[in-house]
Amino acid sequence: MPNEIEISHITKGYGKLLAVKDLSLAVPRGTVFGLLGPNGAGKTTLVSILTTLLKPTSGTARVGGHDVVRDGAKIRSLIGVVPQDNNLDRYLTARENLILHAKMHRMGPSAYNPRIDELLSLMNLTDRQKDFPPKLSGGMQRRLVVARALVHDPRILFLDEPTTGLDPQAKRLIWDYFLSLKRDRTLFLTTHNMEEADFLCDQITIIDNGSPIASGTSAQLKDMAESSWFYEIGVHRGAEEYLRIFQRLPFIDCSSLQDGQIEVCLKKDGSLGALVEQIHPRDLKRISSRQPSLEDVFLKLTGRRLRQ
Ligand SMILES: Nc1ncnc2c1ncn2[C@@H]1O[C@H](COP(=O)(O)OP(=O)(O)OP(=O)(O)O)[C@@H](O)[C@H]1O
Ligand SMILES: [Mg+2]
Repeated sequence: MPNEIEISHITKGYGKLLAVKDLSLAVPRGTVFGLLGPNGAGKTTLVSILTTLLKPTSGTARVGGHDVVRDGAKIRSLIGVVPQDNNLDRYLTARENLILHAKMHRMGPSAYNPRIDELLSLMNLTDRQKDFPPKLSGGMQRRLVVARALVHDPRILFLDEPTTGLDPQAKRLIWDYFLSLKRDRTLFLTTHNMEEADFLCDQITIIDNGSPIASGTSAQLKDMAESSWFYEIGVHRGAEEYLRIFQRLPFIDCSSLQDGQIEVCLKKDGSLGALVEQIHPRDLKRISSRQPSLEDVFLKLTGRRLRQ
């Protein structure tokens, strides 16, 4: 399969701040690519460059074979975009928002009306199509933005945290729909949601501070953390104090406090026994091991959590 998206040494600076640093990657046609990273990593900046809203400071990128700086109009006709923020027109009804988008893509009523009916029904918005966006809930607005990106059946979809704010049921429905699109379309997704990346993406790149720190399939990335052992430790008291003690142990790779639980990752030669010895029996509530997640990969590589 040819590459539908090719990014070559892209850098983007806002004044002195480099939001994206010398980033290169390629996305084959017919696949779902996921960009994973914490707040401020540079995900939206990269999506803005690829969707021709921002010009890179240096480097080149091609979308659908077209250069993002020189062939903006061609790219815009090929892509659908779910931006991070719901940028609906508040003075148009839900349906009129979709019609406006269809007209901008030169669709006539005989093409757009059935398509809009189908998408409104899919997104469970048929009953709300005459409402103006401010009257819709956050999740409904998000579903409308997703529907809008799909009206013209684009070949390439850019989805910047598409399911943020959706309930699990709506999330699942949209994920299934995205997967059904995959065969001849390409999806470029940003997310903080590990489950979303796991479920949807063929390839994932984790970025931090504008640079890629790891790439691969979800399974390959998790393998990177596989050589370590992850434990969740519940204590009755003094979680923060214990965390400080653990952090001083030489065989601890990473550790953090999550919802009052201590999460530690032991180095290969680390001993659980030696760790448990540090905890007063009176304080130990429970200890459990678990499979590494994408979140653990990030934690292991950076010492920080994806969602701070
Ligand atoms: N218009 C702008 N002017 C100046 N700095 C900006 C601008 N937009 C983004 N930045 C900065 O660039 C960096 C990357 O921001 P970006 O929005 O691309 O991150 P992100 O990965 O999408 O984060 P989030 O997960 O919070 O959406 C941040 O440090 C941000 O403050
Ligand atoms: Mg963003």
